[in-house]
Amino acid sequence: MSVHSEIKKITTETLRKMKFDKEKITMLTAYDFTTAKMVDAGGVDAILIGDSAANVMAGFETTLPITLDQMIYHTQCVVRGVDRALVVADLPFGTYQSNPEKALESAVRMMKEGGAHAVKIEGGKEIEESIRKIVNAGIPVCGHLGLTPQSIYQFGTYKVRAKEEAEAEKLIADCQLLEELGCFAVVLEKIPAALAKKASESISIPTIGIGAGPDCDGQVLVYHDMVGMNQGFSPKFLRRYLDLYSEITGAVSQYVKDVKSSDFPNDKESY
Ligand code: KIV
Repeated sequence: MSVHSEIKKITTETLRKMKFDKEKITMLTAYDFTTAKMVDAGGVDAILIGDSAANVMAGFETTLPITLDQMIYHTQCVVRGVDRALVVADLPFGTYQSNPEKALESAVRMMKEGGAHAVKIEGGKEIEESIRKIVNAGIPVCGHLGLTPQSIYQFGTYKVRAKEEAEAEKLIADCQLLEELGCFAVVLEKIPAALAKKASESISIPTIGIGAGPDCDGQVLVYHDMVGMNQGFSPKFLRRYLDLYSEITGAVSQYVKDVKSSDFPNDKESY
């Protein structure tokens, strides 16, 4: 028996059971092979190839410009580095909202070419038919409600969503709809903690929060934020576990000094 076959892989069913057993679910983003290997080895339950790749990998201001081909490429790289975690890939802006046939086509490409285990899409009632079509094809779908960054030009800001009653009620209704449609989980982004608690209690599929308080069934963060690679991004919800920006710039400047002073390479580092 190979080492790989001994690893118990996380499935959508595992996540459902974790909610039932009240065991918190952990998710982080990754966009490349090397990071995916480390994140998987660290023991997260799910890895998200988020369309935040548009921000942290490509330097765009919003997530809108990233293409399906680019997301498929990132997903292929991540899948090669993962032995255990469930691999969930975002379908990017414009690839599922306009019609259900196109949504299914995009999801099929992500599964077939990308090798993802599931897709994530943003929205509730508005994209009901797209979700139905994808789920009916046997593709696991993770929903995403609250602050949905693909709608940033409609919202106008990245502030906390669903503070008003009407939007909060719609969010709860959308959570219930996503469960009815067969989604296996739903990401709740930047909403009041009390609302996230109510949403989590109102459905039997897991909620995975980001800026949604402690009562979600799991948590997700963008890897680059969590390890402190981004200096300019400090929302209240973010906990930084490292200061890699300082570590890496420090290491690079030491390398520059060592080369300029002819300290590197030395005799032991030469053939
Ligand atoms: O794209 C992303 O990284 C996401 C997370 C913030 C949930 O959707």
